[in-house]
Amino acid sequence: MLRDISAAIIRHTALSRRHLTPELVLRLITPECPLWRAKEDESPFRDPFWAFYWPGGQATARYILDNQDLVKDRNVLDIGCGCGAGSIAAAKMKAKYVLANDIDHYALAATHLNANLNGVLIDTSSKNLIGTKCEEFNVILIGDMFYDDDFSHTLFEWLIKLHEAGKTILIGDPGRHGLTEKRRRHVQMLAEYKMPRESQEENNGFTKTKVWKLNKLI
Ligand SMILES: C[S@@+](CC[C@H](N)C(=O)[O-])C[C@H]1O[C@@H](n2cnc3c(N)ncnc32)[C@H](O)[C@@H]1O
Repeated sequence: MLRDISAAIIRHTALSRRHLTPELVLRLITPECPLWRAKEDESPFRDPFWAFYWPGGQATARYILDNQDLVKDRNVLDIGCGCGAGSIAAAKMKAKYVLANDIDHYALAATHLNANLNGVLIDTSSKNLIGTKCEEFNVILIGDMFYDDDFSHTLFEWLIKLHEAGKTILIGDPGRHGLTEKRRRHVQMLAEYKMPRESQEENNGFTKTKVWKLNKLI
């Protein structure tokens, strides 16, 4: 199954560096790909196709590439890895171990392809790890996962527990509604990035994206 998915991804995506992390080359569905305008029934992928490079993931990956100390020699878990860029950035910046996690098999297939393209080794897992203790990990990456109210609640409560257990939690987010004002009281903004023009066009008008660190408990 993974081989079929990978073949479909290769066929329908283009190599791109037109994002916040041009150091990474990624197989993505871009406006140059016929699929960009395809109707749902013309797509070979189950809807939605998650392995885009979302603004949140772009922010965390950019931050990691610019701040190697955050991941160097540490064990990094990328929850909801999508196209895998956060994991790839962590591996490039010499993390001891990287696990790219996503419950979507298409995302994991894209992550494998993208890791190979960038010459890094990462493990992948399709288990739902939300709610687990993640004992072996020091750094948790969350890219663009605050898009749904109920899920945001579950996710944030879990992240608070992981933070209390001493883990570094990095959240990339362009301003999704699930990262509410109340939740933003628990986080500190580490960086804000203007997205490249092409990337803005590919992301429904988001122009800026931010990195937050969970660190204030009320
Ligand atoms: C908006 S995408 C973000 C992808 C990537 N982090 C980025 O920013 O480019 C959200 C991802 O979370 C994944 N996801 C949703 N629920 C999940 C769960 N419980 N565990 C792991 N991944 C999950 C989806 O399959 C999807 O790939």
